[in-house]
Amino acid sequence: MCQYLHLTDIIATVFGKKAAATALISAGNNGVSGALIHLDSVSKSFKVGAAMVPVLNQISLQVQRGEFVAVVGPSGNGKSTLLNMVTGIDAPSSGTVHVGGHCLNGMSENDLAAWRGATVGIIFQFFQMLPALTLLQNVVLPMDFSAALPARQRRERAAHLLALVGLADQAHKLPNMVSGGQQQRAAIARALANDPPLLLADEPTGNLDSKTAAEIFELFCALVEQGKTMVMVTHDKELARRIPRVVEIVNGQVSGDWAQPVERYAAPPALQPALSSVSAH
Ligand SMILES: Nc1ncnc2c1ncn2[C@@H]1O[C@H](COP(=O)(O)OP(=O)(O)O)[C@@H](O)[C@H]1O
Ligand SMILES: [Mg+2]
Repeated sequence: MCQYLHLTDIIATVFGKKAAATALISAGNNGVSGALIHLDSVSKSFKVGAAMVPVLNQISLQVQRGEFVAVVGPSGNGKSTLLNMVTGIDAPSSGTVHVGGHCLNGMSENDLAAWRGATVGIIFQFFQMLPALTLLQNVVLPMDFSAALPARQRRERAAHLLALVGLADQAHKLPNMVSGGQQQRAAIARALANDPPLLLADEPTGNLDSKTAAEIFELFCALVEQGKTMVMVTHDKELARRIPRVVEIVNGQVSGDWAQPVERYAAPPALQPALSSVSAH
């Protein structure tokens, strides 16, 4: 408990108090619901040759602020496509997508990119770190794109975020000089760079051993506890069992959506070195 409160304080310090009240999110009223994510009858088909292949079929789904949601289901059944609808990386063939009060349908690519940079942190299975940049430079990058912080503060914030995920002493290494788990921690720091309220992870532990996966998962739990909304696609049944809501996608449809009791999240022991390094700052 104490450990957790400590973590919350530190994250609040790192993120700044304005975070929770990011105007983009809190001022929004999509006129549909107060949900952070609201998909209404979303269908998506891809053109393959002459044919249109349906991948998502009339998905309606709401995720409230502060929820931690697992998305499960067999490969090739539309989970990543679903996340792409929420990020605006791809557009639905029909139906509407609202995130944080913003209707993504019809937004220009430029507006979508700016909106995404401020609102969504995305974490991938294969980390997607830029190989020629150090971990620190990778974390600075989204801040350079958004330009929300003065340039001189970006490196400092990136260093804080890397410390938060336990990488204070790895910041100046290239991605291929650190382990997969460390790359994923850096990718999480990068996802947090612009302090987005929403984190989306697509099989973030799929390329990690089970011990490292568990550590990454604890980090997600801590972030949810301090107010982030998290949607995580996972094939890991052990982890899915520890997430309070599970949405199952089969054949491009929601085939199950259930709540389950989970242990209260605990401050992750793996964060302790990072905690002391941040608090000593
Ligand atoms: N850009 C695309 N063009 C054509 N087919 C695609 C495209 N993206 C995904 N698909 C197809 O959509 C289906 C669902 O893919 P995906 O959403 O990646 O599934 P999952 O993440 O559940 O494994 C797959 O059959 C995949 O081949
Ligand atoms: Mg996928």
